[in-house]
Order: sequence, then C-alpha cells, then structure tokens
Amino acid sequence: MSQLQPDENTGKIPRHIAIIMDGNGRWAYRQHLPRVAGHRRGAEVVREMVQRCVELDIPHLTLFAFSTENWRRPALEVRLLMNLFRLMLRREAKKLHSNGVRLRIIGDRAALAPDLQKLIGDAETLTAENHRLTLSLAVNYGGKWDITQAARKAVQLCQEQGKDPAMLNEEDIARHLALADIPEPDLLIRTGGEERISNFLIWQLAYTEFYFTDTLWPDFDGVELGRAIHSFAQRQRRFGRTGDQVQDPACDVG
Ligand code: IPE
Ligand code: IPE
Ligand code: MG
Repeated sequence: MSQLQPDENTGKIPRHIAIIMDGNGRWAYRQHLPRVAGHRRGAEVVREMVQRCVELDIPHLTLFAFSTENWRRPALEVRLLMNLFRLMLRREAKKLHSNGVRLRIIGDRAALAPDLQKLIGDAETLTAENHRLTLSLAVNYGGKWDITQAARKAVQLCQEQGKDPAMLNEEDIARHLALADIPEPDLLIRTGGEERISNFLIWQLAYTEFYFTDTLWPDFDGVELGRAIHSFAQRQRRFGRTGDQVQDPACDVG
C-alpha cells in the first residue's frame, strides 16, 4: 500500500480544524468579572473564527463547547452556559445560514432541555443544505461517550443482520461515530495553556497535529489562528510511514 489514503491530508492547509476553547473563566477572573463574562466574550470569538474559516476556505470546523464532564461545574454556571447556547442559536442561526454554514451539534443531546433540543433541531434543519463550512459544535460531548454509542449501534446492526459481533472491525465502529461523514481533524488547537484532550474527539484525533497556546480563548483571534495554521504547515505528517516515503512515494518499491 504505497499510496496515501484519500483522507490522509499531507497538504499545508488544514481541511478540518478542531478547537478546545479553554480559558474563559481565567480571562474573566483577570478582568475581575464573573466567569460568565468570559463565556460571553468566548461566544463572540466563536463568531469571529467561523468567519475566518469561511474566508480561508477551510471546510470543517469543530468546536468543543461543553463536555460530558462540565456538568460537574456549579449549577449556576451550567445554567448560564445553557442560556448562552440558547441565545446563540436564536441569534446566529439565520446569519450562519446566509453565510453558507451548516451547523450541527455533536454530543448526547437527549440530556439537554427539550426547548434547547428544539432550537438545535431547527438550526440544523435550516442550515442542512449548506456546504461552505460545516460547523460542528460539541455540546454534552465526550469522546468516551462517542465511542460507546458507536459500538452499541454497530453491535445492534450486527445482531439485526444475524452476524457475529466478534467480526466487527474498526470501520464498523467508525461509521457510527460523530463526524463520520467528514475528514478527521488535521489540526487540533487548545487555548488556555493546558496540554490535554479532556475527553474530546479521542478516536478522531488519532493522527491529528496538536497545537497548544497559552492564549485564553477570549483573547484568541485571527493572528493566533494564522500562527496555528503556520505551525501545521511546517509539519511532516507521516501516518506511520518514514519521512522518505512521504516525500517520495516511489521509494516504496522494494
Ligand atoms: C472553557 O473555558 C469553556 C467551557 C469549558 C465551557 P473554562 O470555563 O474552562 O475556563 P477556565 O479553564 O476555567 O479558565
Ligand atoms: C474542556 O475544557 C472542555 C471544553 C472546552 C468545553 P475544561 O476546562 O472542561 O477541561 P479541564 O477540566 O480543565 O480538563
Ligand atoms: Mg477550563
């Protein structure tokens, strides 16, 4: 197998950027403001980044907004975050639509309030046919949840077809994961200084390039995004091969 697989992007521009938007709380503390002020400012940065990706012709952007572990936060903060999602969905859905953005929410939405689920469904339906940018917003998302739900579906399908679950392969699981229909992230950015995945897309990030910055999410901007993309462009993605093979696939012979 000397050729790169079609989903192995070795180009200089990421086709799919995933971001762990961290540091809202610390940004607010520094300004002597309540944490929710950081989340509000963070939501504005989301709007800005969507616009940048549209301008840069980056077709896929996936943002971590609320993890399955974030329910552990104080009830008031959780409530304010959910209200902020509501506000964003109400305010931004039409704007996203007119900019050609397809919005999807990934995560276990069954645990969200019914009115929020309705807003999500409406925004997804409105923007379903757009192709300029796919914006996947991870809400009540956890990588472990994702793999578990995909495995469950794969086993169920197996049983329905009268097949032996022992025959399941990676592809059988992968096709039920969130984001199965788009290329895996080329670049993961985490703001806020921590260098961990925090249960984001653990399967889909298997070969993603990571970029960590101390910049807090509310301070992230187009210049910072440019730095991350520049860093990505310097890297050689080998997907298990040697550097020589990547530079010259012909050297595979023998
Ligand atoms: C990220 O910012 C937003 C969410 C997790 C919802 P944080 O709220 O985690 O900000 P810090 O890490 O406390 O500064
Ligand atoms: C990760 O940030 C989740 C989101 C950005 C939504 P956290 O702030 O929750 O991560 P930890 O707890 O510091 O790992
Ligand atoms: Mg945090």
